[in-house]
Amino acid sequence: MTGSHGSYSMGDSTRCVRAIEGTATAGEPMLRGPVFAAPYHLGPEDEPQRDTYARGSHPGWRDLERALALLEGASGTRVVGSGMSAIAVVLRSLLHAGDTLVVPTDGYFQVRTLAADLAARSGIDVHEVPTTAFNSDALERIFESARGRVIVLVESPSNPALDVIDIRRLAARCGAAGAKLIVDNTTATPLGQQPLALGAHAVVASGTKSLSGHSDLLMGYVAASDDELLDAVERERLQAGTVLGPFETWLALRSLGSAGLRIERQCANAAAVAAMLVNRPQVRNVRYPGLVDDPAHEIARLQMRRYGSLVGLELGSADEVHRFIAGSELLVSATSFGGLHTTADRRARWGDQVPEGFVRLSCGIEDTDDILADIDQALGSL
Ligand SMILES: Cc1ncc(COP(=O)(O)O)c(C=O)c1O
Repeated sequence: MTGSHGSYSMGDSTRCVRAIEGTATAGEPMLRGPVFAAPYHLGPEDEPQRDTYARGSHPGWRDLERALALLEGASGTRVVGSGMSAIAVVLRSLLHAGDTLVVPTDGYFQVRTLAADLAARSGIDVHEVPTTAFNSDALERIFESARGRVIVLVESPSNPALDVIDIRRLAARCGAAGAKLIVDNTTATPLGQQPLALGAHAVVASGTKSLSGHSDLLMGYVAASDDELLDAVERERLQAGTVLGPFETWLALRSLGSAGLRIERQCANAAAVAAMLVNRPQVRNVRYPGLVDDPAHEIARLQMRRYGSLVGLELGSADEVHRFIAGSELLVSATSFGGLHTTADRRARWGDQVPEGFVRLSCGIEDTDDILADIDQALGSL
């Protein structure tokens, strides 16, 4: 798939395979081996040194960061140990006492916990705004009353409800007010949307999900075309030590090469599953930004090239969800998402403000017909 949004030119699988190519030379392996804590001898003291210690820098990070920058359309990225770490380091880099932080009420719950801690300990003024309200004028009053810098952190599509924010419009409003917009691109991935091309100041993401895609590592990254911000993030990473381990770095780069294929299939499966669920009497509501009737579709189609691997569906009760998952052969109950397997998570069990019967499905790479048949028969058993 090639697309017209943002800076895409070749197809995504080609871009992913090429992005990880790096500097391999004849006779050397495609990917460098993991680099551990003290791999290199020091050079002379009067010469600049790098890669002396893997909390500061190592060649594996540079390969992965270059690949992610290509995919996000950023001048640079910094990889860290998890998606939460990416969010924490970027907020710590940008915010000082007296500044204002706006976060969604209905996004990934740990972000609100982090924001509450920043409010209590660091004197940051925190506002929570529902995702759909970012498309209205709800921010103007916050902009007007803010004393210092304003950072707006959003997720689109949001996890778990899959509401979508008009990133281009929000970026313009933030820009006009002197605020900075940061977009969490975890659920869409850079193959689904490029927030920087839409005007966001920075992207944060969990690479734990579809980008690495094998449910076997945690990683996060910050992407931006602002060298000062990237340097500040690097400093936070060095000081806090929230680093991506050498082996995870190697695995993530290896996995990125197949991201185009995997995400293509995941999104195709999600679209097929959503279309099927709409017609099932056991299902009260379906959310998928790619569905033409979904409340998020009008905005999603303007800024997304793919609508993601996540589908929201609502059954009648928590018990029905348990029976639905138990009645399926392929669905795995799991709280992460974006992996090879199709998984299901009843989000109310974690305290998300969704109905008791709401399930977040993460579509995997299985054959579409198999997933459809399996979900169909699991619903039939309710
Ligand atoms: C939208 C979103 N952002 C950030 C994170 C945090 O990522 P990680 O678990 O890699 O720290 C998650 C985790 O589920 C997420 O869903």
